[in-house]
Amino acid sequence: MAIKALRGTYDIFPPKSKLWQKVENLARELFDFYGYGEIRTPIFEQTSLFSRSIGENTDIVSKEMYTFQDKKGRSITLRPEATAPVIRAYLQHNMQQLNQICKLSYLGPMFRYERPQAGRNRQFYQLGTELIGSANPYYDAESIALAYDFISRLGIKCPAVKINSVGDTQSKSNYATLIKNYLSPKISSMCGDCQIRIEKNPLRVLDCKNPSCKEHIANAPSLLDSLSETSKTHFDKVREYLETMEIPYTIDNYLVRGLDYYTDTIFEIIHSNLGSQDVLGGGGRYNNLVQEMGGPSVGAVGFAFGIDRLILVLEALGQLGPKTNSGLDFFILNIDDSVFNQHIKLIKRLREKNIKIDICAENKSFKAQMRNANKLNAEFVIIRGSDEIENNVIKIKNMNDKTEETISITDDDSLFNAVLERIKQNDKKPVF
Ligand code: HAM
Repeated sequence: MAIKALRGTYDIFPPKSKLWQKVENLARELFDFYGYGEIRTPIFEQTSLFSRSIGENTDIVSKEMYTFQDKKGRSITLRPEATAPVIRAYLQHNMQQLNQICKLSYLGPMFRYERPQAGRNRQFYQLGTELIGSANPYYDAESIALAYDFISRLGIKCPAVKINSVGDTQSKSNYATLIKNYLSPKISSMCGDCQIRIEKNPLRVLDCKNPSCKEHIANAPSLLDSLSETSKTHFDKVREYLETMEIPYTIDNYLVRGLDYYTDTIFEIIHSNLGSQDVLGGGGRYNNLVQEMGGPSVGAVGFAFGIDRLILVLEALGQLGPKTNSGLDFFILNIDDSVFNQHIKLIKRLREKNIKIDICAENKSFKAQMRNANKLNAEFVIIRGSDEIENNVIKIKNMNDKTEETISITDDDSLFNAVLERIKQNDKKPVF
């Protein structure tokens, strides 16, 4: 039986890979513009890194991690997200000693054993940022502004930005008691998952999609009412800065996130084209994680977008129609074997001059090779069959206006110069 990619995984190949590159290149440029430097962490880490930071009772840790034992019996997990690895690396390399705000960005594959559907995969890709070293609410707003800027520059108009605050440790614990008391009398009519969540991770109940749970939650106490004075002031400041920066947002009192490390601000960016998996990206502040992982008590804030979902929206909007190829300057028709070596030499010399040239080494008919040249968006085609060889000429066909030019050539150099002259040197920029 033919071997296929595993369920929830997929291949990315041309022309779609061009779209991926555009998204990734924009992220790299914009993150750099906002002062973030790229960090690359390993694809797998010790399991405890994730179970401790994301939370034992989250769906990610309890159900979705790809965990296995290595040959020495150590528990290893394929990273389901990047925030915990980034903080691990920050501490391992003593970045806190730089005594300044540390801004790191990343891009790469993550792994979660979820039920696959449109926009939900088992190997998916995230791009994101983490700012470590400040609890100032300005940075919450700036992170949201960066996420918004990124989406806008991608051409995705009017995404919805939802924000909420889960508050500090005290606020979270106040709310846990409040919601537990509120839901206890209704618990028997709630789903099995929520019956466990109410005991182990009450905030997660707010995110349940089960209709009967949703009904109970609709009138539940609001997280914002449980905020401590410090958390309230923090959230007010975040809102003030967002308004100053003219970032449109709405407050969603019941917004919670699937990871336990958040404190204070949380946010999500939603797009209606995505169906049920409509969250393009999300993030928030996590002021306790660095200390919980053995570091100093410093605040941090960040977000991640799912690239898979960005691509789905861009395709649906037709914003970045995939192009087949950026186009060749020249395509050499391979008609006569006796000049094949001369053509290889020509290609080598022209590529050194940043001229985009190619040849088909297979023996294909004239017609098939012309079709190939068209497919590759060649500007010119070089024709050199037995007649041309006998008369010491080459024909250069302009594929746009279909005109043909016959040029005399005597040796390698005149061939090289004839082709080079055909392309305006001044227009050529280095490719790399
Ligand atoms: P998250 O909400 O778990 O947050 O994931 C961020 C984004 O990754 C989601 O909004 C979604 O677009 C994408 N995503 C998640 N799971 C899947 C999946 N199975 N298939 C396709 N896309 C998916 C985090 O991971 C946090 N680390 C974000 C963060 C950074 N918070 C602070 N800093």
